[in-house]
Amino acid sequence: MIQTLTLPRPDDWHLHLRDGAMLAGIAPETARHFARAIIMPNLVPPVVTGAQAQDYRDRIRAVTGQGFTPLMTLYLTETTDPADVVAAHRAGIITAVKLYPAGATTNSASGVRDFDRVRGVLDAMAEAGIPLCTHGEVTDPDVDIFDREAVFIDRVLDPLRRATPQLRVVMEHITTADAVAYVQSAPEGLGATITTHHLVINRNHILVGGIKPHYYCLPVAKRETHRQALVSAATSGDARFFLGTDSAPHSDDAKESACGCAGCFTATNTMSILAQIFDTADALDRLEGFVARHGPGFYQLPVNSESLTLEKTADPVAYPAKIDTGAGPVTVFDPGFALYWRVKDMPAS
Ligand code: DOR
Ligand code: ZN
Repeated sequence: MIQTLTLPRPDDWHLHLRDGAMLAGIAPETARHFARAIIMPNLVPPVVTGAQAQDYRDRIRAVTGQGFTPLMTLYLTETTDPADVVAAHRAGIITAVKLYPAGATTNSASGVRDFDRVRGVLDAMAEAGIPLCTHGEVTDPDVDIFDREAVFIDRVLDPLRRATPQLRVVMEHITTADAVAYVQSAPEGLGATITTHHLVINRNHILVGGIKPHYYCLPVAKRETHRQALVSAATSGDARFFLGTDSAPHSDDAKESACGCAGCFTATNTMSILAQIFDTADALDRLEGFVARHGPGFYQLPVNSESLTLEKTADPVAYPAKIDTGAGPVTVFDPGFALYWRVKDMPAS
């Protein structure tokens, strides 16, 4: 039986770090285990220009120090300047651009309504080899919230990829068997991130026995068959699937509210949860691909040279229930099962 597992240091290909006191409070939770992360641009106001991304990167680095590399993204709007995007990428400031359909999720009001209006940016990105990260949900009020991802594939993603076949696209935080099948059907240029929490919860976790706001996120968790499809994809060894935690902190008062915010905060215990899931699936040998190799492969970046060691424990791993931040307490995601894999302490970098 495997008792320790040493991997290249993992990366998180979809992360919310926020700003100010929240950033200061939660960024160390990611930097403790992860070498790099794709940083979401949905601040208020959003990160829309190369100059703003550079400033935000500096604020992140001031908190995390040198051992962690934030990979910045720009928030795509209908007025995004293709030349600014290409220049920011050439200068090494941004790694990708994020597409939020307008109104899809937290701070997405500036997102895209008319996809024809971003065609010039998408063409320039395809030409320059800049990946597009997509929040894959339509926002039409007539589409049921549980169908919004599947409808996005048909109405938005597939037409967009056909119109710009050279564009490299990541379908972020997939939640359905439909998305798994769509990604598997694509010969190249399409990848998908899978979150830790979508490997753990289905919609019953949110709604049965009382409403559980800390399990509410977007895209919302679907029925159990979809969760199982995600676990199969993540543990399959298929390089098109990689970890993007979508760890998204909100203070407890914003979550535990009559109109609670979407987001699960998993940065603190993600590696333990993933090891537990892969162990249960008898796929520990594939964890390395999912957390440390497939993402760099898609983004055409080197695999990290430092390592991280997980060790199996006799007693359940202890982790804090909440992280206290200057912006209020943030509840750490509770997977609902005991964790028997801990990250061995790493030397400070
Ligand atoms: O649950 C989510 N929270 N999904 C998102 O797409 C955004 C995120 C956030 O920023 O809070
Ligand atoms: Zn997100």
